Amino acid sequence: MRVLVTGAGGQIGQALVPALLQRGDEVLATDIRSLTYPTATLQLDILDEKHFRAVLREWKPAEVYHLAAFLSARSEYEPQRGWEVNFMATWQVFEACRAEAVQRVFWPSSIAVFGPHTPREATPQYCPTDPIGLYGIAKLAGERLAEYFFRRYALDIRSLRFPGVVGPAHLPQGGTTDFAVHMFYAALRERRYKCYLLPDTRLPMIYIDDAVRAILKLMEAHPEQLTVRGAYNIQGMSFSPRELELEIQKAIPDFKCEYEPDFRQALAESWPISVDDTLARRDWGWHPTYDLPALCEAMLKAIPTYESS
Ligand code: NAD
Ligand code: SER
Repeated sequence: MRVLVTGAGGQIGQALVPALLQRGDEVLATDIRSLTYPTATLQLDILDEKHFRAVLREWKPAEVYHLAAFLSARSEYEPQRGWEVNFMATWQVFEACRAEAVQRVFWPSSIAVFGPHTPREATPQYCPTDPIGLYGIAKLAGERLAEYFFRRYALDIRSLRFPGVVGPAHLPQGGTTDFAVHMFYAALRERRYKCYLLPDTRLPMIYIDDAVRAILKLMEAHPEQLTVRGAYNIQGMSFSPRELELEIQKAIPDFKCEYEPDFRQALAESWPISVDDTLARRDWGWHPTYDLPALCEAMLKAIPTYESS
């Protein structure tokens, strides 16, 4: 199958592109920055609507994976640009996919759609969503737009509300859950880390292999199985910075964390501690395979291999 990926150079794209290639797809990997992948690549600003449409017409993908985004912290630094990339560009991508008869679109949402009035434990699929951050506001609008395009134009858009994604290949920048990757790099390099969240801030997280498996499984599901056309809740595990520090200390006993919260604390406190993913489990067979000890083991094993390559 021919597929196109936007934002392919980011944390999820770097793991998704190899998985799509392994599945046997012909992949066009695009990003605003230049990419090096063993497949076709293209430097493409997703805000350049004409360019994106021309590429769709030429490449004719059956599926588009639209990952280009500004994450939650970066969206607070550059709100207008964040809105353009996270919402306006998403609208243009949906429109172009409809016009060019793309069969299926994947676009990720986030736990950032939730807010202070959301129940924080086992957050239900349907409940108050009052995000306080601009990233969450754009994701919530994107979810509504995805469902609108499905109902009005039958464009088969599929989406997941990702928790914090943790993977070894990439030092993420611009998110609120980035600490969960940074802590591993710091533990291996300096044995010290200054965390921008308070130690007991528990958040839902998912290991990158599970995140990619969820994307592929959702995209492979029969459309009639899917009852959620906004974005599915999915849960991997939940942990706080302190719990992660203690887990890393089992392998690196002299690792130490300091805690100095910044503006990301308010965002994190407005997000769930855990989410209820019953509908994802029921509709398309979602189940996570990594818990916190397995995630730690995988990260500590994999990071040195990326650092030495
Ligand atoms: P990332 O920040 O690592 O990557 C985003 C990519 O988008 C970057 O490579 C960047 O260069 C690219 N980009 C930014 N502006 C662009 C533009 N104008 N044109 C083209 N490309 C542009 O993000 P990620 O973690 O890979 O996230 C991918 C998707 O998953 C996003 O929609 C994000 O909101 C969502 N998501 C991620 C997480 C997470 O924890 N990583 C959690 C929930 C949802
Ligand atoms: N992990 C993302 C962030 O922290 C949430 O989507 O911005």
